[in-house]
Amino acid sequence: MAAVIVLAAGEGTRMKSKTPKVLHEISGRSLVGHVVTAARELDPEHLVVVVGHASEQVTAHLATVDSQVRTAYQAVQGGTGHAVRTALEELGGTIEGTVIVVCGDTPLLSGATLTALAAVHTADANAVTVLTAEVPDATGYGRIVRDAASGAVTEIVEHKDATDAQRAIREINSGVFAFDGRLLTDALGKVRADNSQGEEYLTDVLSILREAGHRVGASVAADHREILGINNRVQLAQARTLLNERLLERAMLAGVTVVDPATTLIDATVTYEQDAIVHPGTQLLGTTHLAEDAEVGPNSRLTDTTVHAGARVDNTVAVGAEIGPGATVGPYAYLRPGTTLGPKAKAGTYVEMKNATIGEGTKVPHLSYVGDATIGDHTNIGAASVFVNYDGVSKHHTTIGSHCRTGSDNMFVAPVTVGDGVYTAAGSVITKDVPPGSLAVARGQQRNIAGWVARKRPGSAAAQAAQAAAEEADSES
Ligand code: UD1
Ligand code: CA
Repeated sequence: MAAVIVLAAGEGTRMKSKTPKVLHEISGRSLVGHVVTAARELDPEHLVVVVGHASEQVTAHLATVDSQVRTAYQAVQGGTGHAVRTALEELGGTIEGTVIVVCGDTPLLSGATLTALAAVHTADANAVTVLTAEVPDATGYGRIVRDAASGAVTEIVEHKDATDAQRAIREINSGVFAFDGRLLTDALGKVRADNSQGEEYLTDVLSILREAGHRVGASVAADHREILGINNRVQLAQARTLLNERLLERAMLAGVTVVDPATTLIDATVTYEQDAIVHPGTQLLGTTHLAEDAEVGPNSRLTDTTVHAGARVDNTVAVGAEIGPGATVGPYAYLRPGTTLGPKAKAGTYVEMKNATIGEGTKVPHLSYVGDATIGDHTNIGAASVFVNYDGVSKHHTTIGSHCRTGSDNMFVAPVTVGDGVYTAAGSVITKDVPPGSLAVARGQQRNIAGWVARKRPGSAAAQAAQAAAEEADSES
């Protein structure tokens, strides 16, 4: 493959958005990101994206998608033919071999379909091969006009320029083509802007090449939904649904149980191993990975998170976390970036963690915040504990050893270090380091003031209850 040219200079006014159309996202990638990823599968020598509207923003984004991609700047959007001409000028005017042209707003187009188109183009020795599709509603698309006798493609007529008879044709131009590079350059030189939109249409290259006696072919896409072009946010949602279905099917065929595909979202960049289970209402985003027997959901959102083998994650939000083998998380946990749970560790109910390394078998079961901390192995953190990491200016670190039993409602005021095998009393505010093996008690002594209620709240329900309890104790003794 000599070159792939992606057309992405248009504004996409029908999106009604401050974001350029091709930068809108579905399934974890921008629209143009999906197209560039599919184009990369052809392993082209040159991959050129034609940019125009918001070109700096689009160019900066493309660099994050694919470092090898080149851009060609189209200052004025003079039509798809003009856009391809601009890309060829960037490549030195012309190119030997096959040139594929795709639009930047067709995110469902697969690398396999592009490869198949290129194969037909080469096998039939065509000057141009257009990818077409039969669609239920052809409104707005260019129509494929075929010779009544031979069935050969004669021309593509844009919707706006078509006659009523031509508008009845349901075979449309997907906007994807394979060209012979040299013939493409020659033909583009002959394209005129004498149409209803005053633009240089790439589609006119077809009839120009045909009239010059070259072979013109068409390849009908197996699934017309694959060439869906996004022009507005209704189509954006439709494409997201279709792509999500496709990605979930891929996961299921690879051995992942998806209990309810209708309520599960998965990004194109997510990876998994067989026998992972995904429960309803779950979103798997970014570079999230599910290892064998990992079980996620219901109602969880994992972003850039690794769930190791056999770990269980329930009703949880996790971002940039690593959940060790056999670990359990939730229900109702929030794991923030830098959280690493060791094997069989636990982050339980209403537990928030950030930048925390939790050792093997260590449990933080209930109602706690663990921020900027390292905890050893087989330690238990009592309910309702807080790692007090912020003094209002800077963040500080807490280190807790292995085999500790910290009491409920502890505050660990960082920076502080608690040694191995330490116990702490419930309600302690730990401000000083605790040596290994100690019991730390850091709370006020309890004082009971006898008869206070009878003296200070006479006649109250509390006083009456106290009186009754005293009488009962008397009669029993
Ligand atoms: C185009 C085709 C139509 C086809 C349809 C498929 C032409 C003349 N028409 O129509 O036959 O059915 O796609 O979706 O080719 N672009 C540029 N520079 C320009 C003009 C367009 O980069 O000067 C880019 C746009 O950003 C877009 C793509 O080319 O990504 C297609 O342009 P668009 O205006 O959407 O063409 P359609 O009217 O949809
Ligand atoms: Ca379009």
